[in-house]
Amino acid sequence: MTDDADVLLEAVLSVGRGLELEGTLYRVVQAAADIADARYAALGILGEDGQIAQFLTVGLSEDEIRAIGPYPRGRGLLGELIRHPAPLRLPDMAADHRSVGFPAHHPPMRTFLGVPLQVRGNPFGNLYLTDKRGGGEFTADDQRLIEALASAASVAVENARLYDEATLRERWAHGNDEISRRVLAGDTPESVLDAVAREAVQVAAADVAVLATVDDDAPDHLRVRSAHGPGTDGLVGTRLPLQGTFAAEAYTAGQAVVTRDAASDHRQTLSFNPPSVVGPLAAMPLGGPGRTAGVLTVGRRAGTPPFPRVVVDALAAFASQAAVALELAERRRDAERLAVVRDRDRIARDLHDLAIQRLYATGLSLEGVGRRMQERPEAKGDAERVERAVGDLDETISLIRTTIRGLQPSTGAVRRVGLRARLVAEVDAASRTLGFTPALHMAGAVDTLVPPATADHLVAVLREALSNVARHAEARRVGVELVAGDDVVLTVADDGRGIPADAARSGLANLERRAADLGGTFTVERDQPGTALHWRVPLNL
Ligand SMILES: Nc1ncnc2c1ncn2[C@@H]1O[C@H](COP(=O)(O)OP(=O)(O)OP(=O)(O)O)[C@@H](O)[C@H]1O
Ligand SMILES: [Mg+2]
Repeated sequence: MTDDADVLLEAVLSVGRGLELEGTLYRVVQAAADIADARYAALGILGEDGQIAQFLTVGLSEDEIRAIGPYPRGRGLLGELIRHPAPLRLPDMAADHRSVGFPAHHPPMRTFLGVPLQVRGNPFGNLYLTDKRGGGEFTADDQRLIEALASAASVAVENARLYDEATLRERWAHGNDEISRRVLAGDTPESVLDAVAREAVQVAAADVAVLATVDDDAPDHLRVRSAHGPGTDGLVGTRLPLQGTFAAEAYTAGQAVVTRDAASDHRQTLSFNPPSVVGPLAAMPLGGPGRTAGVLTVGRRAGTPPFPRVVVDALAAFASQAAVALELAERRRDAERLAVVRDRDRIARDLHDLAIQRLYATGLSLEGVGRRMQERPEAKGDAERVERAVGDLDETISLIRTTIRGLQPSTGAVRRVGLRARLVAEVDAASRTLGFTPALHMAGAVDTLVPPATADHLVAVLREALSNVARHAEARRVGVELVAGDDVVLTVADDGRGIPADAARSGLANLERRAADLGGTFTVERDQPGTALHWRVPLNL
């Protein structure tokens, strides 16, 4: 084996040593510099637009790279190789008519060797070598070796690309798993959103991710719901205008907006600080056009490679899956809220129907005992204690009432208190004058089906009917029933002496008028014994 073959073999082996694309590419550049004895070497990788998307260099220090500024876009000699992908060897770059010269702070470079690099028959990039050590020019042998390296590197690059895609898929699957896990565990939408932004950083190999959703209180804004990465502190909760930003464009268009350098892309402004650190940027709608819930924006530090198409595609799919997850999480939260409201409603009802009734009954029997004791002078002390106990019970009942009011949604305005609760309160109030507690039964979605105006009538009707029972019936029992369906029907039935046929009607006439006003009916039934009133009005008005 010749020396050259040794060097080449060594170089090819080193290139194939790792699997990550970025590392592989650096090893190609380093190997090229070693083989051709060049002071400087670079690999300009072409983006989807055919321009240089990434520029890897060997021989320049970090400080020198920073001083030179943005990597070349592919004009002059570098562009020549892009336009005509064939090896190019020059003794003096500056003397060539195609040269556009160097930017400020660029070290002087003289000799030049450029070789195109293809992967799977497609242009991938170009190897650029400058300043052969020892003062001489790059030789035909150098060129031959670099060409051989380029063809060996093409296989390594292809492998590394496949590997990168595989790991991307892995990161993506991991991100989806993480989000699904949270949704299934019943996490809050906030927690799901937070996971989406954090996993997006991983999926896209990005530095920052910001997730904003539509703001209910201000529909002309997006609100940042979660943010990850350096410089994103304090971003959560801030609002983004729905115009003039990358995020806004992605949101309104319902499709991904990608830029290779947010800072110099003047189509839009950056939707969030820190602008200084963000170069490549991709903004993804959450959900499709017309039903976009928000925008996921990822950014990479300025000067790093732009997001490749495969990453953008993966991210778009990730974002739409995240949108579904988010919707599930939000639906679940609504369902839980509803369950809480229902639960409170049930507790309030039980307190009314069970606890209060029982306390009343106890209070009434105690009152009876107390009255009898009053009649016996020797039991006067006990009678007073019983009276105090009855007072305590009354206080307890009013305490429970307060609790019930707190449990019911929208306390305050009487009208907003549910009909159910108001009828229960009427029955409670009537118990005092009746001397016993009416039986109360309600069926149907009383609170939701009955409109407020009808509810007001029902309360008035019940009050009048119970006052009649207390004043005229001499009843021992009275039953109140309210059924809400297509109609709402209130029935008040007692077992008293019944309404005399010739009774003059005043309150009862009012009840009839109230029913007629609402297109309903009012009937008085003479039970044996007792009276039953039926007050019915239609609900489907
Ligand atoms: N549940 C009942 N049991 C027995 N008699 C009743 C009953 N309800 C009403 N009455 C009789 O019917 C009459 C008419 O009742 P109505 O409610 O129209 O007038 P009122 O109760 O006497 O007066 P107002 O309602 O104006 O206070 C009563 O005076 C009473 O004699
Ligand atoms: Mg009356």
